[in-house]
Amino acid sequence: MSLRIAHVSDVHVLDLTGTKPWRFLNKRITGLANLMGARKAAHPHSMLEQIVRELEGDDVDHVIISGDLSNLALESELSRARELVKPLGGFDRVSVVPGNHDVYTRGAQRSRRFERFFGDLMWRGGEAQAYPWFKDLGPVKLVGFSSANATAPLFAHGHVARAQLDRLASLHREGALDGGFGVGVVHHNLHRRGRRKDWMHGLRNRDELVAACKSAGVGLILHGHTHVSNRFEQDGIAIVGSGSSTWSSPEPRHTGRYNVYTVDEGGVRDTEVRVFDAGTGAFGGPARA
Ligand SMILES: [Fe+2]
Ligand SMILES: [Fe+2]
Repeated sequence: MSLRIAHVSDVHVLDLTGTKPWRFLNKRITGLANLMGARKAAHPHSMLEQIVRELEGDDVDHVIISGDLSNLALESELSRARELVKPLGGFDRVSVVPGNHDVYTRGAQRSRRFERFFGDLMWRGGEAQAYPWFKDLGPVKLVGFSSANATAPLFAHGHVARAQLDRLASLHREGALDGGFGVGVVHHNLHRRGRRKDWMHGLRNRDELVAACKSAGVGLILHGHTHVSNRFEQDGIAIVGSGSSTWSSPEPRHTGRYNVYTVDEGGVRDTEVRVFDAGTGAFGGPARA
């Protein structure tokens, strides 16, 4: 049996409604400056609404959103993002992981604000809310990590805590991933982009995560963070970044896109890339990766 899984990322919902000015007197001041500049119209909600319309139907079995659903981790943004993706369904049909923008400040991280708005898409009611979350989709076993941490201004690096790697190892020991294809989801990219960028914006323990995934039999890791799509292979694991799904840039490499993978117990059988077409207002395809 195969499943069709959509991979959406970095939709960056912007909503400052009701936010008191003093809430920008922290790291958000740099984020806000950014948003007032080039980024203001970079991720229109209309593109996310179009994605939701396209994925609402029976065309795909499951939708993964690999983080950065918001810009500044404000309640107004997380609540708006949650509303916008609501038509896609609940726990059994939608999965998310937090991005660095979803835990933008220490306050947002400490209060587990992202988990408050999106926890129902990661854990069943009553289940301990620990990362990585785990979902048994039959032929696909899904594991969702949090690499997101509040960082100093201008930094956006990530880290997957040791406890998460240990938890993955115990899931593997308990046989949770047996009989299916293991797919990991994490926000930060795993490809190298140069020493400075990797230190400032990358996943600092990327090799540890890949090694832990390999030991657990994970065959595919999906990520976001870099708004340009990317794919490569490390230690036999396919690593795929979808790129931002809502980037309105006309530059062909940057234009918003999402992927649809056909996956069975043996691995990925097909990857369809659906790229936004400003002419039709829809995400065209299928283009094969
Ligand atoms: Fe992003
Ligand atoms: Fe990010």
